[in-house]
Amino acid sequence: MEKSYKRHLVTAALPYANGAVHIGHLAGVYVPADIYVRYLRMRGRDVKFICGSDEHGVPITIKARQQNCSPQEVVDKYHLIIKDSFERLGISFDIYSRTSSDIHHKTASEFFKKLYEDGKFIERESEQYFDEEANHFLADRYITGTCPKCGAENAYGDQCEKCGSTLSPSELINPRSALSGNTPVLKKTSHWYLPLDAYEPWLREWILEQHKEWKTNVYGQCKSWLDGGLQPRAVSRDLEWGVPVPVEGAEGKVLYVWFDAPIGYISNTIELMPDEWEKWWKSEDTRLLHFIGKDNIVFHCIVFPAMLKAYGDGYILPDNVPANEFLNLEGNKISTSRNWAVWLHEYLDDFPGMEDVLRYVLCANAPETKDNDFTWKDFQTRNNSELVAILGNFVNRVVVLTHKYFSGEVPSLLKSEQTDEDTLAQIPVIRKSIEESLENFRFREAIKETMNLARLGNKYLTDTEPWKVAKTDMERVATIMNVSLQICANLAIAFDPFLPHTTQKLAYMLNMKSRNWDDFGSDSILHPGHMVNEPHLLFDKIEDSAIEIQLAKLEASRPSVPVTDSIPEEDAEKTELLPQKEECTYEDFSKMDIRTATVLEAERVPKTDKLLKLTIDTGLDTRTIVSGIAEYYTPEEMVGKQICILANLAPRKIKGIESNGMILMAKEESGKMRIVTPEERIGNGGTVN
Ligand code: MF3
Ligand code: ZN
Repeated sequence: MEKSYKRHLVTAALPYANGAVHIGHLAGVYVPADIYVRYLRMRGRDVKFICGSDEHGVPITIKARQQNCSPQEVVDKYHLIIKDSFERLGISFDIYSRTSSDIHHKTASEFFKKLYEDGKFIERESEQYFDEEANHFLADRYITGTCPKCGAENAYGDQCEKCGSTLSPSELINPRSALSGNTPVLKKTSHWYLPLDAYEPWLREWILEQHKEWKTNVYGQCKSWLDGGLQPRAVSRDLEWGVPVPVEGAEGKVLYVWFDAPIGYISNTIELMPDEWEKWWKSEDTRLLHFIGKDNIVFHCIVFPAMLKAYGDGYILPDNVPANEFLNLEGNKISTSRNWAVWLHEYLDDFPGMEDVLRYVLCANAPETKDNDFTWKDFQTRNNSELVAILGNFVNRVVVLTHKYFSGEVPSLLKSEQTDEDTLAQIPVIRKSIEESLENFRFREAIKETMNLARLGNKYLTDTEPWKVAKTDMERVATIMNVSLQICANLAIAFDPFLPHTTQKLAYMLNMKSRNWDDFGSDSILHPGHMVNEPHLLFDKIEDSAIEIQLAKLEASRPSVPVTDSIPEEDAEKTELLPQKEECTYEDFSKMDIRTATVLEAERVPKTDKLLKLTIDTGLDTRTIVSGIAEYYTPEEMVGKQICILANLAPRKIKGIESNGMILMAKEESGKMRIVTPEERIGNGGTVN
């Protein structure tokens, strides 16, 4: 945040209103975004936090068909559930609106119209699948078929859920209509495309040069999209649900959901501040931040910025896009359709008054740099041994003892010792470190540091033992309690962005009228003579029975084989390894010329299941390598990846193609292979030894 901005506009991905919100959404997007916004507010920043339901798109209309109701009824139902559950969790949006609103339709429509009139689109005719029986074009999820990449049977027209590849309907093998099950026919239709390729040089400069500070997962994904080459993207669809395309002769066409949804951030800002929204979107003094999950990166870093750039008129671009990875649940990928999830509204009903426990666990275990696992056991442990045993216990001891020895009155510092000073001196140090973590979107680190403040308090009490000193030296006890109460008051400030319900209770207990971040670090927030209120426990222990109920609830949906994208760690340990090979000399090893390289292009070798033909930039040259990795990686995944190759392997012909080198892969006994890659992206041609 080097630049000094006047205001912060923070957006959180608009959830699809075709289902409720689950812990994966929360850990990835809404909890970190809320912590950040609450922190900014406490620092006195001018901030607006924008969200709402994403109410268009094919999945909503499919759900409506299944449930025999209108799409509007589907979104009305889920919009309310989502909005209400966010509120109960304390996600402090300034507005939570919806894309079926009039304001949104008007804004999105006007946005399209301007781009259309300014000649920013290309219009193209193409053949698309059509269901003759249903008289319906089959965009996106209306069509299913066999995935060309992994062979999974029920891949959608826009994506295969099994292997995660992005698809287009024409790639599906054996396409079938999701409406009737029939084999579709091809029919001509015309659509508008945003020529992303035209924005590529600008995007490269803006992201790859000017935003090197973005999180590695975000930067890396952008780089691989850009290196893979951008294509024009259709921004309209033949559907009846959505924002109608505002062009004459476009009957039966609506804006593609990924075109209208991000404009929702703008419409919702307009709804919130009809008179001053423009300064929030069109002033260089505004810092725009998008909190999203990793599946949204391309839309927020490439497509939406290109739309804003095309529109011009002073629209700003995001300064940062702190995207998270995915959260798994008990070892399996969270899935709405398989009902493998912990639903927020159900959690709130099952654990009343325990909103902050979920906020705490999801933040402490957030999938910030890699996918992570949520387990109910871990949830219980973090509650019982951190929230209850550290934070709750410390505060409770302090307030109870203050009542016991001083009738609830903050005592004076009558007899100070070095340890008091040392302890208090750590508070500003902790504050600095929390600030630094938060400002760099490292929320796990931030909450851990904050808990360290409670640890500090606990240690101080344990070391000074006021309950023993009370037998001989009440002046010393007065000092110990004063110091401890100052730590409690600091906790009421420090935890506020993370655990707002708890800090409110704590502030009430301490009878604190106001809490300012500026006071954080002070050793005299509560003055002698100030009265504190009665003690109340901040957290309750979670018993095994409560956890068993949740596990039983999940068990009904448990898949027979684990479903995840990442390799579960326990499994990796269980495999039996090959014995070490016979000794080799350094000379043997040094004959091998191993180097870093980047995959420029990748395609399947026709008529094979296992082979990919890769075009590689080795730093020295551009060459072809044929590699047996098609079982583990799709061509799309490989493009842009940095790899290590054995560069001086004698050339070989594989399926008629000359292969010049070998890609280094790590193989475990189960047979699973992953590419070997430098820990951080470095130049190509770097020698590995
Ligand atoms: N509904 C999308 C999802 O859940 C997110 C839309 S974000 C927006 O993945 F920018 F398009 F609004
Ligand atoms: Zn697939």
